Amino acid sequence: MPKRVRKAVLPVAGLGTRFLPATKVIPKEMIPVIDKPVVQYAVEEARAAGIEEFVFVTADGKESIANHFSVHPVLEAMLAEKKKTAELKLIQDATLPSGGLHMVKQHEPLGLGHAVWCAWQLIGDEPFAVILPDDMVLSDTPCLKQLIDAHQKVGGHVVAVENVARDQTNRYGILDVQSEEGNIAKAKGLVEKPDPAKAPSTLAIIGRYILDPIVFKELDKRTKGAGNEIQLTDALNRTIGDVPFHGYRFEGTRYDCGTRVGFVEANVAFGLANPEMKDRLRPIIERLLVESKS
Ligand code: G1P
Repeated sequence: MPKRVRKAVLPVAGLGTRFLPATKVIPKEMIPVIDKPVVQYAVEEARAAGIEEFVFVTADGKESIANHFSVHPVLEAMLAEKKKTAELKLIQDATLPSGGLHMVKQHEPLGLGHAVWCAWQLIGDEPFAVILPDDMVLSDTPCLKQLIDAHQKVGGHVVAVENVARDQTNRYGILDVQSEEGNIAKAKGLVEKPDPAKAPSTLAIIGRYILDPIVFKELDKRTKGAGNEIQLTDALNRTIGDVPFHGYRFEGTRYDCGTRVGFVEANVAFGLANPEMKDRLRPIIERLLVESKS
């Protein structure tokens, strides 16, 4: 039986240039969808899946992420005094327990593989999760929980996958599928951002991974791949054969908050999924759709 997954790595060092000017001083991960920073959705999903320790791989200017998940004594005292218990709970729920929050600096933007490598000392020799907060998932069972449950059965590396349009394969890590059974696709290879004409399938990795720590030794070689970056996909590909590699077709819908249109889509989708908001939001969206045609 594989070891329990207790730790998650969240690469949050990116500059967020697609969202300038919003990201001039605010980290892109701190921009809210509805009323919560994007990164908090990732942390809540992970905690609901049993993750206890979080390693944020950060860069200069990202201090507000650590602050967001820390205690805020002044605000808490003020809300307690004013008996604003609901608001107090909201900010306390966003606090990670002592010992559960680690920050590690990535000094140079050398790629996702390098960002994950930066967490090696804090993860050690146990299976761990990687969550890319830009990918948000709406699902009945938290996406990461689905992956952890699958990992309990098959071990090795398990990544969340979904089919994408063929002309989109150059935006993702793509699986070379060996066999499929139910929701699980066994891969014999992986390619980072292949040209649509050369992609071995259209089954794409989205930003949720359960990884065997063997990947750190491969990342330590600092081999560069697509875009001249140290790619996580390439390192994982080189470990196939040493440990099993499976893609898991998760239940749920993914929203790509890494693009501006995807970000707007996520706000609408999460708004429509919000019980307090959906009944008022639906007629507004319908009216806006009619008005935008005229
Ligand atoms: C990264 C990974 C890619 C994966 C994608 C999921 O790409 O390198 O393999 O499919 O995340 O969102 P990025 O979006 O950082 O270019």
